[in-house]
Amino acid sequence: MNLKDLYIEFFVRHNHKQIPSAPVVPENDPSVLFNTAGMQPLIPYLMGQPHPYGTRLCDYQKCIRTNDLDSVGDTTHHTFFEMLGNWSLGDYFKEESIEWSYEFLTQDLKIPADRLAVTVFAGNDIIPFDSVSHDKWLSLGIPEERIARTVEDNFWIAGESGPCGPDTEIFYFRSEEEIPTSFDPEDSRWVEIWNNVFMQYHKDSEGKVTELPNKNVDTGMGVERTTAILEGVNDNYESSIWKDIIEMISTISGLPYNDENKKSMRIIADHMRTAVFISADPAGIKPSNTDQGYILRRLIRRAIRHAKNLNMDINSDWERKIAILILDKYKTYYKELEDNYQLVLDVLKTEKEKFNRTLEKGLREFEKATRNKNNIDDITAFHLYDTYGFPIELTVELAKERGITVDEEGFERKFKEHQELSRTASAGKFKGGLAGDGETETKYHTATHLLNAALKIVVGPDVHQKGSNITSERMRFDFSCDHKLTDDEKFKTEELVNKWIQEGLEVSVEEMKKEEAIASGAECMFIEKYPDIVTVYTIGDNVSKELCGGPHVSNTRELGHFKIAKEEASSAGVRRIKAILE
Ligand code: ALA
Repeated sequence: MNLKDLYIEFFVRHNHKQIPSAPVVPENDPSVLFNTAGMQPLIPYLMGQPHPYGTRLCDYQKCIRTNDLDSVGDTTHHTFFEMLGNWSLGDYFKEESIEWSYEFLTQDLKIPADRLAVTVFAGNDIIPFDSVSHDKWLSLGIPEERIARTVEDNFWIAGESGPCGPDTEIFYFRSEEEIPTSFDPEDSRWVEIWNNVFMQYHKDSEGKVTELPNKNVDTGMGVERTTAILEGVNDNYESSIWKDIIEMISTISGLPYNDENKKSMRIIADHMRTAVFISADPAGIKPSNTDQGYILRRLIRRAIRHAKNLNMDINSDWERKIAILILDKYKTYYKELEDNYQLVLDVLKTEKEKFNRTLEKGLREFEKATRNKNNIDDITAFHLYDTYGFPIELTVELAKERGITVDEEGFERKFKEHQELSRTASAGKFKGGLAGDGETETKYHTATHLLNAALKIVVGPDVHQKGSNITSERMRFDFSCDHKLTDDEKFKTEELVNKWIQEGLEVSVEEMKKEEAIASGAECMFIEKYPDIVTVYTIGDNVSKELCGGPHVSNTRELGHFKIAKEEASSAGVRRIKAILE
C-alpha cells in the first residue's frame, strides 16, 4: 500500500470520513489562484458551518504553490504536491491529534521514534505557551531536548487572514550522520513532515484576532517528502513518485540524470505534472496571459525551454509521452484525469506548438539583444514577451544564467501600458487592428506603418490614417484621400514599402510624453484617446514615426513581400486599401 492509502485507512479506522480532493482551482474563493493547502476548501467549516460528512474528516488534497516556482530544480521544491490532512471540526483537540500522528508515524509507517523531533508554540502576548502539546509529546516519549519552542514558526495561517492557530510540527532526521541528542529546527538535516494546527482563532483583514466558535484541528503532511523519507532517498526525485518520470525524460533525451542535467530534468518533470493537473481541472483552464492560465503557460513554456536545454527534439511528441505517464499514474486517485485525458494532451500539444513557432527566433533575438550587454532593458524584455511569447520570468531566468539583469520594473510599466491600450482597442474606441497579436498580425501591424508613410510620399502629406483592421490573412487600411489611386500611385506605393522591407530597417520604440511625441512629428489617429505617456514606434531613420501600442516586428526584413490586393472607396474622402504580405 502506498502512503496515501495507508493514511486514509488509518484515519478511517479512527472514525474519520474521507472527503474527496477539491479541484486545484478554488470553487468559491477568488482571492487565491490555487488551493495551496488541504484546509483551503474547508475554510467555511473551520469557521463554524456544519460539514455534511461530520466532525472528523480526512483526505489527500491537490495543492499548487507557485510563489517559489523559480526554486523548482532543487531536490525538494515542487509546484504541485499532494497534502494528506485530517481535521477535527470542534471534535477532538490537541492530545488525540498528537497521539494519532505519533501512532501513524511510528506504528503504521514504522519510522523509528529516535529520528523524530517536534516544535511547539512558545507563547506570545496574545496566546500562551502550548503546554498541552508539549506535555503530550513528553508523555509519548519524545525527550525534552527534542521539543523545540518557537513563536513565529509555530503559528499557522494561510496568507494574511483567515482561520489560524498555534501548531506543533513534526520533524524527521533525514541524514546518514549520527542523530544529535538535541533538536535544532534550523539544522537542515531535520525536515518537517507533518504540521498539526490547532485552529481556534480567526484573524480578520485588519489583523484583529478572535476565537472561532469551535476548537478545530487542521493537519497537513506532504506526500512527496514523506514518501522520499520512507523510501530512504535524500532527493525527492529519486522516490517512486518521480523516478519513472525522470527515467522517461532521460530516455527521450538520451541523457543520464546527472549533475549536469538534473536541474532541467526536475523542472520538466515538475512542471509537466502541474500542467497536467491544471489542465485536467474542472475549471477548464487554458494557457493564457492572465491568472491561472498564465501560470499554466509559464509552466509549459519553461518545460519546453528546459527540454531544449537537454537537446530534446521539442517538436516531437515528448510532452505527450510524459503526460500519459503522469495521467496513468494518478488517474485512479483523481477521476478528472480519466475524464479529461484527451483534453489534457490537446492543451499541452497546442501550447507546445504555439511556443515552438517563436522560441527559436526569440532565443536568437535574446542573444542579439544581450550581446556585450549586462542588462536587458524594458523594451527588449517587452518585445520578447509580446512578439516571441517569452514570459518575463523566462527572460529573467535566461538572463540570470548569463549573469545579466533585466529591467523588470520597466517591463511591468510597459506591460500595463500595453494592457491599457489593448483594452481601449478591444472596447472598440480605436478602429485600430490591435486585437490579435500573433506573429503574422504583428507583421501586418508594422506594414500599416510603412504603408501610411509611403502614401504620404507618393500621394501627398495630407494622407492620414482613418482606421485599420488586421487579421492573420490580410490588412485593411483606411486613409484620407480625395481620389481613386492611379495604377502608378499604387505601383509606387508598393515599390516603396518593399524597398523599406528589403533595406531591413530597425523598428525602435520609446516612451515619451504625449505632447513631446506630437511635437516630434509622430503620426497618430485620435490624440485625445491616448494616455499622457505614449509609446512611439520609429522605423528606420525616420521613415515612419507613429504613436502606437504595438506590437511590432523588430526589423522590417521580417515582413517578406508587400502587395496591394485592392483599392476602393470607403466613405466620402476616405479610401481603403487591402494588402497582403507574402
Ligand atoms: N494547513 C497546515 C499546513 O499547510 C496544516 O501546513
